[in-house]
Amino acid sequence: MPSMRQGRLITLEGGEGAGKSSHVGLVVKWLEARGREVVRTREPGGSPLAEAIRQIVLADWSEGIDAHTELLLMFAARSAHLANTIRPALAAGHDVVCDRFIDASWAYQGAGRGIEDQHLQALQTLVLGDLQPVLTLVFDVEPAIGLQRARSRGETNRFESERSVFMERVRQAYLQRANQSPDRCEIINASKGLEDVQLQVLHALEERLA
Ligand code: TMP
Repeated sequence: MPSMRQGRLITLEGGEGAGKSSHVGLVVKWLEARGREVVRTREPGGSPLAEAIRQIVLADWSEGIDAHTELLLMFAARSAHLANTIRPALAAGHDVVCDRFIDASWAYQGAGRGIEDQHLQALQTLVLGDLQPVLTLVFDVEPAIGLQRARSRGETNRFESERSVFMERVRQAYLQRANQSPDRCEIINASKGLEDVQLQVLHALEERLA
């Protein structure tokens, strides 16, 4: 049997209201136009079990949800997503475009909630092994603008009701991670208009994946 090429994992990341979700379709279309089979997915979620965990982790619980529970639910969802959606797709040679992935845990649970790096690293090693996205687009926008955009869409989850100081920590963590991994990450200036952002995305795809 001819050996099948492993697919590529491409992720989109950013704080609330950075507009990344509007560009997932653009990335998918770009890959499909180049003859790739593409699986579009998201985190938390992306498989029936992981989507069920998403409902739990994004809900507002009257008893509150402590940082460790949140962290473990994010990684539980990721583990199911990897086992049932991402790894089978990559093994079948399909590209996978994922709206949020591991960097979100470092940014939100790490910088946002204060979980220590050693714990994030241990969970990353357990759940991902050595899997890394080949490309991560980091949509960067000032928290004040992002939060306003997110609220004007009217879909508020627990994170979208966080204040700007939380989102600024998330933002700085994303920027720091992107700057530490320039081969993997491309920062997209998401405070620009839609067309400008689309051009930045297409440029990054041409430069890095063509
Ligand atoms: P969204 O992707 O629909 O915007 O919502 C998902 C929320 O979950 C978002 O506010 C960020 C948060 N999140 C984390 O806190 N950690 C994670 O690892 C992931 C994937 C998402």
